[in-house]
Amino acid sequence: MHNGFVIETKALTKRFGKFVALNGLDLSVETGAIHGLLGPNGAGKTTSIKVLCGLIKPTSGEAYIFGKRVPDKSILPRIGYMPQETALYLDLSVHHNLAMYGELYGLSGKKIAEREKDLLRFVALEKWKDSPVGNLSGGMKHRVSLACSMIHEPALLFLDEPTVGVDPELRASFWEYFNLLKRAGVTIVMTTHYMDEAQHCDKIGLVRQGRVIAEGTPESITAQTGTANLEEAFLALSRRQVNA
Ligand SMILES: Nc1ncnc2c1ncn2[C@@H]1O[C@H](COP(=O)(O)OP(=O)(O)OP(=O)(O)O)[C@@H](O)[C@H]1O
Ligand SMILES: [Mg+2]
Repeated sequence: MHNGFVIETKALTKRFGKFVALNGLDLSVETGAIHGLLGPNGAGKTTSIKVLCGLIKPTSGEAYIFGKRVPDKSILPRIGYMPQETALYLDLSVHHNLAMYGELYGLSGKKIAEREKDLLRFVALEKWKDSPVGNLSGGMKHRVSLACSMIHEPALLFLDEPTVGVDPELRASFWEYFNLLKRAGVTIVMTTHYMDEAQHCDKIGLVRQGRVIAEGTPESITAQTGTANLEEAFLALSRRQVNA
């Protein structure tokens, strides 16, 4: 690990043709923190997660996870990734999707069964275990995807909008679970557009046009901007950047 940071990026840049999606992104995530990435649509949040997970190569700059330069296959078993667009097999059951992800990570049948039981309880889908994922509602598919990303008990979790379409009651229980994971030493990087969720993060990074334009605790960001809440702070920071 690098100075207590589980993730560090330096001047991370990603171009798609002429389009600059990441424009010198500097991000540091502390070990065991819940770190929120916020920012408008197209800001580069998903792109930065994909670079960190080794799914796309940066054009320039550096990214380190557990002190290792990304991409590095050796860190993959310690990382969980819940993509914004769920990557599930719709004609397979919830059970088979979980089992497939478990096998992908080389877990034994016994371990998969153990994890499946815990995770189905966490996402409240025990009753849907044998249903094809394609028959589930949007929010339920999201919950299956979240469970799949955690099957191998990763130390670092990337959750790209994990609570979109999830009802308020379950959303609250997700947060209880995230805090439980945190207490067990797991680091979580999540994106959200919900300000009430951002408020629960230990640190947040506001991403805009491929850069981190503000980073800190929710309280420090509101204090820095002299605003009453995060929503106002972000609007103020965005306006400042546009006017700069
Ligand atoms: N494969 C690609 N080819 C071309 N452009 C891309 C590609 N992937 C992403 N982009 C562009 O990069 C920019 C950043 O996209 P990204 O998905 O990272 O945004 P985001 O912050 O996750 O937004 P959202 O809040 O909508 O999820 C967007 O303008 C997007 O169109
Ligand atoms: Mg995104």
